[in-house]
Amino acid sequence: MPDSPLLIDDRDGVRVITIHRPDKLNALNSATLDALHAAFDDAADAPEVRAIVLTGAGPKAFVAGADIAEMADLRPVEGRDFSLRGQRMMRRVELLPKPVIAMINGFALGGGLELAMCCHLRIAADTAKIGQPEINLGLIPGFGGTQRLLRLAGRAAALELCLTGTPIDAARAQALGIVNRVVPAADLETETMALATRLANAAPLALRGILDCINIGGESAIGEGLEYEAAQFGLAFSTEDMREGTRAFLERRKPEFRNR
Ligand code: COA
Repeated sequence: MPDSPLLIDDRDGVRVITIHRPDKLNALNSATLDALHAAFDDAADAPEVRAIVLTGAGPKAFVAGADIAEMADLRPVEGRDFSLRGQRMMRRVELLPKPVIAMINGFALGGGLELAMCCHLRIAADTAKIGQPEINLGLIPGFGGTQRLLRLAGRAAALELCLTGTPIDAARAQALGIVNRVVPAADLETETMALATRLANAAPLALRGILDCINIGGESAIGEGLEYEAAQFGLAFSTEDMREGTRAFLERRKPEFRNR
């Protein structure tokens, strides 16, 4: 699609979704939010897609935030709708039944950090800069930043990043638990694709069970979460992949998972 703000590329079970507005540092306008929502719907439904990598085009930015030009003149109700539009898309990503890795290739600011945080794993280039700078615009995070940063990195980090608006480097983001790994910028794509390929070859129904348990468990009391985990654990015994995985271990061979 010539006008799409996204590039989509399938590589051996891994779908790479690239936000492609490099001249605007991949800022999230409404069209991009909607295109992302549709792209994640499609990735969820496509049987050949086993893992997803989300990144930004160009050498500078993952995503430098929600589109400030689009937001500048919004009225209150429009502002709320813009927030809900972004939140809905990001919740879709968070609850996707397939693993999503954010490949953070540069600035992940505001909506960019919010987008990275709704992904299941985050790998950052050592050159990346990460923050919630909305305060500098007289705004607050509106795509889930206050809530996901709090849950991901705790109250101290959430308050520091949101109140000061000052970006942090990738190493500090890793120390705070915001990103899983930091790699040299030159290795970012290779390392991310290696991880994504590994996930794409894992048992898809078990991956889904883990994602569901962690999503449900993160939002419920431990007793309910444990009960849900036990039910999902039991369900795994109904899959052919579980029989294959355990048999392959006992027969000292590599398992072949078939999503059944
Ligand atoms: N929304 C809309 N446009 C954005 C943008 C955003 N969040 N972030 C960058 N851009 C645009 C710039 O307006 C500029 O467009 P132009 O060339 O048409 O003027 C282009 O992207 C390049 O950005 P520029 O600011 O010139 O790059 P830089 O290297 O000097 O600075 C940043 C990079 C990331 C520090 C700076 O762009 C920035 O602070 N962006 C906003 C970050 C932010 O506040 N995000 C939260 C939004 S809620």
